[in-house]
Amino acid sequence: MLLLVVAVGFVLYEVQFSSAGQPRGQNGLLGSSEQTGNEKEFLDSDHEEEEEEEGDESHHHSHQHGPDGHSDSSSAGHHHATGTYHHGIAVTDSDACSQIGKDILQDGGTVVDAGIASVLCLAVTHPHSTSLGGVFSCIVYNGSTSSASLLNALPREPSPTPFGIPMMLHGLRLLHQNYGHKPWAELLRPAINLANEGFRVDDPLGRALQNNRQFISSSEGLCKLFCQNNNPTGGLKGVGETVTNPPLGAFLEQLSTLYTDSFVTGRLAQSLPADTDSAIRDKFTAAISQNRPDIEAPLTLRVEELTLYTSSGQTAGSILSNFMQKLSENSSSDSLLLPWMGRRAAPVGTNVMVARSSGDLLVLSLSLNSSFGSGFVSPITGILLSDFTQHGDVSHPDFWACPAVLSVGADGDVMGLAATGGSSVPSSLAQVILNHLFLQMNLTESVRESLAHEHSPVGVTQPETPRGTNPPETPRDTNPPETTRDTNPPETPRGTNPPTAVAVAVEAEHIHVARSSGLCCFHEGL
Ligand SMILES: *[C@@H]1O[C@H](CO)[C@@H](O)[C@H](O)[C@H]1NC(C)=O
Ligand SMILES: *[C@@H]1O[C@H](CO)[C@@H](O)[C@H](O)[C@H]1NC(C)=O
Ligand SMILES: *[C@@H]1O[C@H](CO)[C@@H](O)[C@H](O)[C@H]1NC(C)=O
Ligand SMILES: *[C@@H]1O[C@H](CO)[C@@H](O)[C@H](O)[C@H]1NC(C)=O
Repeated sequence: MLLLVVAVGFVLYEVQFSSAGQPRGQNGLLGSSEQTGNEKEFLDSDHEEEEEEEGDESHHHSHQHGPDGHSDSSSAGHHHATGTYHHGIAVTDSDACSQIGKDILQDGGTVVDAGIASVLCLAVTHPHSTSLGGVFSCIVYNGSTSSASLLNALPREPSPTPFGIPMMLHGLRLLHQNYGHKPWAELLRPAINLANEGFRVDDPLGRALQNNRQFISSSEGLCKLFCQNNNPTGGLKGVGETVTNPPLGAFLEQLSTLYTDSFVTGRLAQSLPADTDSAIRDKFTAAISQNRPDIEAPLTLRVEELTLYTSSGQTAGSILSNFMQKLSENSSSDSLLLPWMGRRAAPVGTNVMVARSSGDLLVLSLSLNSSFGSGFVSPITGILLSDFTQHGDVSHPDFWACPAVLSVGADGDVMGLAATGGSSVPSSLAQVILNHLFLQMNLTESVRESLAHEHSPVGVTQPETPRGTNPPETPRDTNPPETTRDTNPPETPRGTNPPTAVAVAVEAEHIHVARSSGLCCFHEGL
């Protein structure tokens, strides 16, 4: 299926670029003649999006929209259906966190300010997919200068403990220092309030809890958060119920006023279990301070009018880039065979995307490796530690994410792309690009079709590797008696989730969003 589409895509591509030697500038991938048509398609696709959203209403519109809600676009003269915005957008897998990002944008924050606040919100409210103990990779694109940078908050060595080296905080801090305009403390405030005053279990978290009942009940720290009355045999909190994490609230509060490297490193190391050997603890502390993220040049590929910026290092960015490179060099489908077969499901993850109509864009992919990471929540800092412990060799990514930004042509059109789904991520993104830019499908269709091949059984044949090397909790495979397990859609093995994809396009001062169906990628915009 994929190869077929690639082959067809390339034929169209060839036709387009060999057509009568027209100057590239006027016959780009999104050439001006196509522009109006695409705009119309976008608007049509938004109606479809809207219908779908209405169907999902109960899932993710339970929060109150502020007085500004979606009304901003009407104040700008004309109104667009949900899915198209004039000023800015924040997309996360949590309604509440997208709203927080949108509020920061509205308040004059940069896309990075908004992204940091959204990520911190997720670190409190979505421990199944991220936490302060996790990792991320992101691309920051500056629309005024048309320049992109990369920040990989990923360890460069294996962890000396069964817990992943926490990379999140140093990464967010560095982002803020370079691209933030709002005071740091202001970006922490919403997350502090959620941790202290409580957040509601939303649908994505509710589903993750159900899918991992046994694991949650057997983890003291997770049970404290999510078991009814802190009783491992009393069932888990359901959607709509409130959860607080006071130690995490207190830690974030400290971070808002006192952020020094040594303080943060020390507190992160204190998040290890109390009985951790002191020599191991020292190694962990050293690993945290040595594995400092840097801002780097992203992996960049130019194909005609198209520039792809994606992540390098131990991420899947080079696979995406190679794929696009081969496509541009040789239309023979032989050369387009994907460098892997089957699908390694882990790690699970989540994506955050923030854009402004100026073309500023943040695409950020996060992970704990497994769902709920290691399962160990520090009673001291409230941090859930990850099980992202390995460090593969260069040829084998250990983080199957490739946050991507595509700039198209000279008009400043730009698109952010991200997906989840383990090793299928680069092929999903390549497919979105082909569908939209080469096959001229509308954005919504491009994104949905990109995952079509994932629904075949081949996508889930690979059983998850046993988590034998992991900390405290042991009996994850014992089959819980609950009946929901059978009534739920086919349960994915721990560490896997249905693949998702999301794209945000900024064109002619309009922002369009398209996402796969399901419990992901909720957008709030202005
Ligand atoms: C966009 O794609 C969807 C899904 O295939 C389709 O139903 C819709 O008609 C498309 N819109 C346009 C304008 O082609
Ligand atoms: C984009 O770059 C320009 C020039 O360096 C800078 O002034 C501006 O603040 C940047 N935009 C953002 C959102 O960081
Ligand atoms: C394209 O790829 C095919 C098979 O992978 C190869 O035989 C052929 O020589 C390549 N053509 C060019 C122009 O590189
Ligand atoms: C993620 O977890 C799996 C299963 O426990 C493990 O095999 C793999 O090495 C982990 N990945 C990383 C990067 O630690």
